[in-house]
Amino acid sequence: MAKEKEREKERNMFVGVVWSCAAELKILLTALLFLCSLATVLQFLPSRLSISPSDFRLCLSKLSSEAPPPPSLPPPPVPSPPSLEQDQILDGGIVKRAFNPYGAAAYAFIQMGTYRGGLDTFAVVGLASKPLHVYGKPQYQCEWVPDSGNQSLFTDGYKIYPDWGYGRVYTVVVVNCTFPEPVGADGSGGKLILHSWTNGGFDRDVNATEKIEALREAPGSLNVSVFKSPPQFDYLYCGSSLYGNLSPQRVREWIAYHVRLFGPKSHFVIHDAGGIHPGVLEVLKPWMEKGYVTLQDIREQERFDGYYHNQFLVVNDCLHRYRFMAKWMFFFDVDEYVYVPPKSTIKSVLDSLSDYTQFTIEQMPMSNKLCLAEDAGKTYRYLFAT
Ligand SMILES: *[C@@H]1O[C@H](CO)[C@@H](O)[C@H](O)[C@H]1NC(C)=O
Ligand SMILES: *[C@@H]1O[C@H](CO)[C@@H](O)[C@H](O)[C@H]1NC(C)=O
Ligand SMILES: *[C@@H]1O[C@H](CO)[C@@H](O)[C@H](O)[C@H]1NC(C)=O
Ligand SMILES: *[C@@H]1O[C@H](CO)[C@@H](O)[C@H](O)[C@H]1NC(C)=O
Repeated sequence: MAKEKEREKERNMFVGVVWSCAAELKILLTALLFLCSLATVLQFLPSRLSISPSDFRLCLSKLSSEAPPPPSLPPPPVPSPPSLEQDQILDGGIVKRAFNPYGAAAYAFIQMGTYRGGLDTFAVVGLASKPLHVYGKPQYQCEWVPDSGNQSLFTDGYKIYPDWGYGRVYTVVVVNCTFPEPVGADGSGGKLILHSWTNGGFDRDVNATEKIEALREAPGSLNVSVFKSPPQFDYLYCGSSLYGNLSPQRVREWIAYHVRLFGPKSHFVIHDAGGIHPGVLEVLKPWMEKGYVTLQDIREQERFDGYYHNQFLVVNDCLHRYRFMAKWMFFFDVDEYVYVPPKSTIKSVLDSLSDYTQFTIEQMPMSNKLCLAEDAGKTYRYLFAT
């Protein structure tokens, strides 16, 4: 009895081992276990059946070495697959596998815009391969080439990653080029060249180089007073990429509400990533004609897989493009409404924040019951010729 209990225990343990194996192996071993169990039962029968008592392991090894595998079972795994011609055998027998790309690669840099931030500094806003930037150490250098034919000036580019790792195939990169002295400040013209090196990021032996003409400044085109004069607008809104089937009614409410809130010295930059269909365009048109809205068609960004239709790219472009035109810039979505408590105005709130360069707005959910389900009715615009 004791012996049987022990065998029972042994079998249970064995079953435990079997179930932790891979599926194909499981089928094979279960089959063997069944045969072994049969053998254990048989061993208690009279000895003339000539089944010698043996333990499970022995039984298993006997069965697996002697019995031909049933034809329906998969063949045993092949331990060493054949080397392909493209594989390289390194010292120590290491097989170096090759990955052979066909078709188009991820671009090294996709430039959206380059903007001066002063007499000696520029921001180059673009996308770059995310794996290269996550796993490698690509490097940028900026070169100012004066039109006068004088010598170029060089400075290291400082990388800024504004999308907090949300990038996909591409990540947003802002390269800050700050020279030790003003460049082209006399308005004699020149160009900014961005040199980029992969620095062995993908392949230790490769230092792929790109030479990108980031900005061309025609002689006489630089207006240095832009950096010092009071900005044209109080508030400038930079919208993220708009896509999908937007409701013209909702967009109309949103823009009317915010133009009223921000006042006459405000401006709205809207980025169309496919969301400005004819119905939405119709409600934006009057605001564009009044000079409140600038509409930018950024539909081409869809070719470059980034986070949410490249929203971090477009808002960073907007920041550098318009930063000298407004006292404050706002970044929020068209399903969000800025609200200031009664007795305050947007001006009083922002005046109280004048010592800060940045602030965030607390978010509260709002009821969709506040939205009208349909248009309030027709209104007519009359034009009078005088
Ligand atoms: C580049 O960085 C420097 C130092 O932080 C900053 O002062 C400058 O404004 C930046 N340039 C641009 C164009 O953003
Ligand atoms: C070119 O370089 C010379 C010598 O450094 C300097 O005197 C001259 O002002 C420079 N010209 C321009 C347009 O920067
Ligand atoms: C790649 O080239 C740049 C520019 O010549 C150099 O500064 C950098 O060290 C090189 N990187 C490697 C890994 O060779
Ligand atoms: C230069 O910029 C200032 C301030 O933005 C503006 O008032 C002026 O008209 C600009 N000059 C030219 C020639 O564009």
